[in-house]
Amino acid sequence: MEFFRSTILIVFLLSCFSFSATDAFDALDPNGNITIKWDVINWSPDGYVAVVTMFNFQQYRHIQAPGWTLGWTWAKKEVIWGMVGAQTTEQGDCSKFKGNIPHCCKRDPTVIDLLPGTPYNQQIANCCKGGVINSWGQDPETAVSSFQVSVGSAGTTNKTVRVPKNFTLKAPGPGYTCGPAKVVKPTKFFTNDGRRVTQAMMTWNVTCTYSQFLAQKTPTCCVSLSSFYNDTIVPCPTCTCGCQKNGTQHGNCVDQDEPHLASVVSGLGKNNYAPLVQCTSHMCPIRIHWHVKLNYKEYWRVKVTITNFNYNMNYTQWNLVVQHPNFDNLTQLFSFHYKSLTPYGAINDTAMLWGMKFYNDLLMQAGPLGNVQSELLFRKDMSTFTFEKGWAFPHRVYFNGDNCVMPQPDSYPYMPNAGTVWKVSSLKLVVTLMLSMAFFFATV
Ligand SMILES: *[C@@H]1O[C@H](CO)[C@@H](O)[C@H](O)[C@H]1NC(C)=O
Ligand SMILES: *[C@@H]1O[C@H](CO)[C@@H](O)[C@H](O)[C@H]1NC(C)=O
Ligand SMILES: *[C@@H]1O[C@H](CO)[C@@H](O)[C@H](O)[C@H]1NC(C)=O
Ligand SMILES: *[C@@H]1O[C@H](CO)[C@@H](O)[C@H](O)[C@H]1NC(C)=O
Ligand SMILES: *[C@@H]1O[C@H](CO)[C@@H](O)[C@H](O)[C@H]1NC(C)=O
Ligand SMILES: *[C@@H]1O[C@H](CO)[C@@H](O)[C@H](O)[C@H]1NC(C)=O
Ligand SMILES: *[C@@H]1O[C@H](CO)[C@@H](O)[C@H](O)[C@H]1NC(C)=O
Ligand SMILES: *[C@@H]1O[C@H](CO)[C@@H](O)[C@H](O)[C@H]1NC(C)=O
Ligand SMILES: *[C@@H]1O[C@H](CO)[C@@H](O)[C@H](O)[C@H]1NC(C)=O
Repeated sequence: MEFFRSTILIVFLLSCFSFSATDAFDALDPNGNITIKWDVINWSPDGYVAVVTMFNFQQYRHIQAPGWTLGWTWAKKEVIWGMVGAQTTEQGDCSKFKGNIPHCCKRDPTVIDLLPGTPYNQQIANCCKGGVINSWGQDPETAVSSFQVSVGSAGTTNKTVRVPKNFTLKAPGPGYTCGPAKVVKPTKFFTNDGRRVTQAMMTWNVTCTYSQFLAQKTPTCCVSLSSFYNDTIVPCPTCTCGCQKNGTQHGNCVDQDEPHLASVVSGLGKNNYAPLVQCTSHMCPIRIHWHVKLNYKEYWRVKVTITNFNYNMNYTQWNLVVQHPNFDNLTQLFSFHYKSLTPYGAINDTAMLWGMKFYNDLLMQAGPLGNVQSELLFRKDMSTFTFEKGWAFPHRVYFNGDNCVMPQPDSYPYMPNAGTVWKVSSLKLVVTLMLSMAFFFATV
């Protein structure tokens, strides 16, 4: 049975890592995607009015401030007469228009959401959140974003209209790849009382998927480990997310006790896609620390701490995904929300954790407030439970949907009396080796 299980695990890991470098496949969220639905709700004299809705169907990858940016290329000579609930970043060259001037004349418009507080007459449902979209797993109600667009110089029937091409979604950096727009069955809309149904003139869908390897070449988070049974704190691997510059000059990091720290940091003030990290040996914006804290007769307890080393980012609605075989017997969890992720039905070993609203759903920028923590209480399943072979440590950790780099398995803290030889099952060693190799190859 054990062998069978491990074999499944290997096949599973193999498949996910052979895909991840090229495709956007995520083994823990195999169907995760953002679907952009474009509903033509009305034909106009020279085009149409459409409601564009983005559904973030991903379980745990959300879009945080400064929000999404959506672009596309018009198939013909379309212009945007007006928008509600969003705007284009540039108007472009509208010099051939007299009188009525379009909102945007660019062939490849770039659209951004409006900010909260937009006057009501410029809003539509699910708009105006500064481009922030929650994940489906965290809150489906806020995992949607919409705007309305009036398109001119376009076709005015479903035979003459051309779907836009080359959709690009930034969140706000790279990472998403969008497929072509596909004409689908027109959406049906129900009135509030559910007694009447109307339908779109025409609908097309675009599916966008995420790949961490497109988003950034280097990892963005790392894991450190400790336990009550061994004094060793296993740090994040050195240079996980970059190396400190040699000598007195710090390339891309800020020293914690630098005299100018306050001025450097206060000058930022807004979330920025490019991290500015505190100087550490790992140089990661985020570190997750997993501490095996206590051992009871029937239970054991873990303390998880997420530390923000990034001065450029207040992480809103952050989330953590952790894979550990004992999650099917999670008994208690403090101050985080929990949801089990079971993309493969029977295997209940993956948890999504996120903060509580107004309490710890905001992970503050680097500094004294830049951390959140929780404790997990697991009930031991005596047939599998052990403190040996690093079993008490997680297999995989994601922060905001990005895979965090684990320390080398042979460095894990071990039980003093577990013998001097590191007894790893060869299977596990192979798996872990493959994991590190996969990451190595993916990052070079
Ligand atoms: C996108 O996600 C939804 C919800 O998980 C799923 O039903 C749909 O099949 C996905 N689309 C693609 C093209 O993967
Ligand atoms: C256009 O509309 C007609 C009738 O309304 C429908 O039969 C046809 O399938 C539609 N064509 C497309 C491409 O949607
Ligand atoms: C769409 O993008 C591809 C590749 O980037 C490019 O070759 C093509 O010309 C673009 N199409 C349009 C209509 O811009
Ligand atoms: C198009 O997207 C909408 C919203 O996600 C979804 O309900 C619909 O099933 C999709 N249609 C197709 C054919 O994928
Ligand atoms: C820094 O530079 C010195 C001399 O150039 C070298 O000996 C040392 O190994 C370097 N340290 C790191 C961390 O690269
Ligand atoms: C993070 O939030 C604090 C308090 O609201 C604010 O002072 C700071 O400027 C914010 N930092 C960033 C990078 O947005
Ligand atoms: C997974 O296990 C946890 C802890 O026992 C339980 O709360 C959760 O409902 C389980 N999820 C599924 C899908 O079985
Ligand atoms: C642990 O969870 C599994 C699956 O939910 C269940 O079959 C088993 O009885 C649980 N073990 C304990 C000790 O609660
Ligand atoms: C604690 O674990 C480390 C491995 O990380 C090992 O080198 C050390 O000997 C262990 N300490 C004890 C007291 O066993």
